[in-house]
Amino acid sequence: MVNEKVLAIAKLIKITGVSQQEIIDSIAIPSDAKMGDYCLPCFKFSKILRKSPVAIANELVESFGELTTPLVSANAVNGYINFVTDKLFTAKKVLGEIIEKGKEYGNRQSNGKTICIDYSSINIAKPFHIGHLCTTVIGGSLYRIYKKLGYNCVGINHLGDWGTQFGKLIVAFKKWCSLEELNEKGMKALTEIYVKYHQESQKDESLDAQAREWFKKIEENDSEAMELFNIFKDVTIKEVQKTYKRLNITFDSYNGESFYNDKMQPVIDKLQQKNLLTESEGAKIVDLSDYDMPPCLIVKADGATLYATRDLAAAYYRKEAYDFDKCLYVVAYQQNLHFRQWFKVIELLGESWHDSLVHVPFGMVSLEDGAMSTRKGKVVLLEDVLNKAVEKSLAIIESKNPDLQNKEDVAEKVGVGAVIFSALYNNRIKDIVFSYDKVLNFDGETGPYVQYTNARCNSVLEKVGEIDITKANFDAVNNQECNAVIALLELFPKVLGDCLEKYEPCYLSRYLVNLCQEFNRFYFAHRILNEEEGVKTARAILVKCTKTVIEEGLSLLGISAPKKM
Ligand code: ARG
Repeated sequence: MVNEKVLAIAKLIKITGVSQQEIIDSIAIPSDAKMGDYCLPCFKFSKILRKSPVAIANELVESFGELTTPLVSANAVNGYINFVTDKLFTAKKVLGEIIEKGKEYGNRQSNGKTICIDYSSINIAKPFHIGHLCTTVIGGSLYRIYKKLGYNCVGINHLGDWGTQFGKLIVAFKKWCSLEELNEKGMKALTEIYVKYHQESQKDESLDAQAREWFKKIEENDSEAMELFNIFKDVTIKEVQKTYKRLNITFDSYNGESFYNDKMQPVIDKLQQKNLLTESEGAKIVDLSDYDMPPCLIVKADGATLYATRDLAAAYYRKEAYDFDKCLYVVAYQQNLHFRQWFKVIELLGESWHDSLVHVPFGMVSLEDGAMSTRKGKVVLLEDVLNKAVEKSLAIIESKNPDLQNKEDVAEKVGVGAVIFSALYNNRIKDIVFSYDKVLNFDGETGPYVQYTNARCNSVLEKVGEIDITKANFDAVNNQECNAVIALLELFPKVLGDCLEKYEPCYLSRYLVNLCQEFNRFYFAHRILNEEEGVKTARAILVKCTKTVIEEGLSLLGISAPKKM
């Protein structure tokens, strides 16, 4: 949070042994806005100065002399110095900057660093269910925020495209499906035959033997096996693209688990060289008992590699291919142990970059009518959830605004946006119980509420027409309601930084709700249209800047903002 006001405050404070940067870093925003716009807690300096914080604050304030713009007053209170700044100065500066930069407001220059983000990472031939919602949208929004703040990003869909289930699928496909049917029904055909396989294999043991046989053929790169394997993969990817498109999600790489088939041996060799591998009942493991963790399984007794082996190989590959500054794994907290284990293995291998691997865990999503469970077949498909949310949005729009044009298009944006927003609204580690009524409440802390506020801005701006900033009388936005909006607009770049620091898009979603609440307070307290030119222009500028930040904020979350609702 460095701006002119913070710099002006820092310039006033001279304490031997404390750098300007330390002072800047100590300046905060008071929890109660009545105290002032910024504060400096003096507790930290007690030790160096051998004085009480109260005395330090008092003496510092006395040393300031007359304050000049942008600072208005400084008050020592209980070891804090509270600063009041010039609101008119802030209004002109912040609004001017947003008008000038448009949606590039808050952008940072390229810093040359690369961030890999492993997200969504669905499993081939398995349904894209609501359990994938969070990883997909959290990963997607971190990706966009990193880009905005000047990083190169590599979005990776680490497909689950390896494992014995592919042998089963081939058996099932040959028995109960055909290419025609697959082309026609897509992934649905695959999930159906997969379920059928599990029923039939209970009765007929020979199926599992055949499945093992086929999986072996895949491992041996047999052409027929590989052809089918690739078809299953293509069908899945093609189908999930539709959902990704609705969610505004893209990837730079679809290198999944099978991509690492020929890249694991070097890692296993390295483990061997460093004497990290131990034999245990025929399997090769890395013992992690010194770190209070169960062993990390590297090669099974039958020679098969594991999920962790592929992750180790993938990490080396990514370091080599992208030279990442950080590699994030947006994966449910159920896999906490998995990541702790293999991150530790990378550390034991002596790789300096081990601490640039970051697991970004999140909680579970369940529907109101009971937890979702994949194994029992009670899978809630993400697409069905999106469709239902869109359908319900359409009904709400029909009742609120029956004359609206492109109702279907607006309903798609509102319904999908509501689902995305709800997945990004809580601290990611929390489990979420999903309720259609809650996420679609136009007056709640929801996506539609933010979209609706934005549509309100659009409608005002349409009525205002052309804005000539030179005509603005900024005194008209120097009041409590406007200042609250402006203070939030000024905070936008910092909020984005906070999101990355904690890998938490919810700072942004919460901020947007806050901004909309303050904006609506302003909207109901002050006239815009029937005012004289200078007043109208200044307030219209405030509306335009709010709209700019809402739209950019939503777009960073992957949500579209309809013009009208
Ligand atoms: N496909 C896995 C799953 O659905 C997630 C993979 C996450 N990424 C990774 N590099 N392990 O559980």
